[in-house]
Amino acid sequence: MRLSRRRLLQASGAVAATGLVPSRFAIGQSAKVRVGLLLPYSGTYAALGHNITDSMKLAFAAAGNKLGGREIELVQVDSEADPAKAPANTNKLIVGEKVDFITGPVHSGVAMAMVKIAREEGTIAIVSNAGANAVTREMCGPNVFRTSFSNWQVCQPMGAEMARRNLKRVVSVTWNYAAGKEMIGAFREGFEKAGGTVVKEILVPFPNVEFQANLTEVAALKPDAVYAFFAGAGAVKFVKDYADSGLKARIPLYGAGFLTDGTLRAQGAAAEGVLTTLHYADSLDTPQNRSFREAFKKATTRDADVYAVQGYDTAQLLIQAMDKVKGDTKAGKALIAAMEAVQFDSPRGRWTFSKSHNPVQDIYLREVRNGDNAVIGIAQKAVADPAKGCGIA
Ligand code: BEZ
Repeated sequence: MRLSRRRLLQASGAVAATGLVPSRFAIGQSAKVRVGLLLPYSGTYAALGHNITDSMKLAFAAAGNKLGGREIELVQVDSEADPAKAPANTNKLIVGEKVDFITGPVHSGVAMAMVKIAREEGTIAIVSNAGANAVTREMCGPNVFRTSFSNWQVCQPMGAEMARRNLKRVVSVTWNYAAGKEMIGAFREGFEKAGGTVVKEILVPFPNVEFQANLTEVAALKPDAVYAFFAGAGAVKFVKDYADSGLKARIPLYGAGFLTDGTLRAQGAAAEGVLTTLHYADSLDTPQNRSFREAFKKATTRDADVYAVQGYDTAQLLIQAMDKVKGDTKAGKALIAAMEAVQFDSPRGRWTFSKSHNPVQDIYLREVRNGDNAVIGIAQKAVADPAKGCGIA
């Protein structure tokens, strides 16, 4: 039978108490802090995984590559954005590599498996992208943190915004998996509350990018607007196909901000005018955002995006909290309390956690203008996920 990490820790503490061996902290003080990254480095979400990883490396380098005085060792596993492989990949990091922290993933289905195992093993998990609502609702826990967003948080503000724009009949379209369904569900909640009607929700198998039949269906339904969630390579293809089909000229395209984040160069003119909501925008005019974007560009030659910001903030969380507990990864409640208390000025705005360990954040309304996600307003200020079903919230 495999011992859970918690039990192993209790056992090692008991041995240390006999005085026969140095305490675990004395041993641990000189060892490297092992941070496991479960992220997609291949497939439709590969660019997202690389940006999260590279901005973590950037932030760690600026902190001398140390957490609480101890050197950092990153252990990377390609999640392939494949939920079927997620239990084995998570176990590889938590049980096999014995990482001190596990972070990632991008895909909501992978996150569900990663968080379940992290809870069982008592390893601190920091979800750095996946928005699965359950992570900070039913699956919340002292050792479960999220530095990105919940799917609900990003998408429900657009419902009221589109109703204000006098749009009455909308078709939504997304990939058929947890994130897509939760995102269009949150949009529908906001839109119907404001008096609108979602006439059809079109679900495309993940990660398919053959959209012709779906676009033909949209044309036949003649809605006032389309609301979409796709990300990475799929978002590039959808936005281009939407414009090429001629629909863009007749039916405005709205969506979750992932539709146009990190994708604009590849989408070109096809993305102009697309309206989205997100907890970040390239053009946020703050010193923190400007210097972050400059440093990311210098380090990678790529433009920063929301995924890079989330990686950067994940690293900030670890740097600050580990400094507070002086590198003691086994500090238990003190480490959790240090993580909960972290506050800083992120490129996205002021950073604070809700009680369920999800960021409380402004959701920006953005429009693609001249190849940039321009902020044209705040769709909703200081949005906290309702954390339904979370005992600690
Ligand atoms: C998700 O699966 O939760 C997700 C993937 C890409 C972008 C945003 C969310």
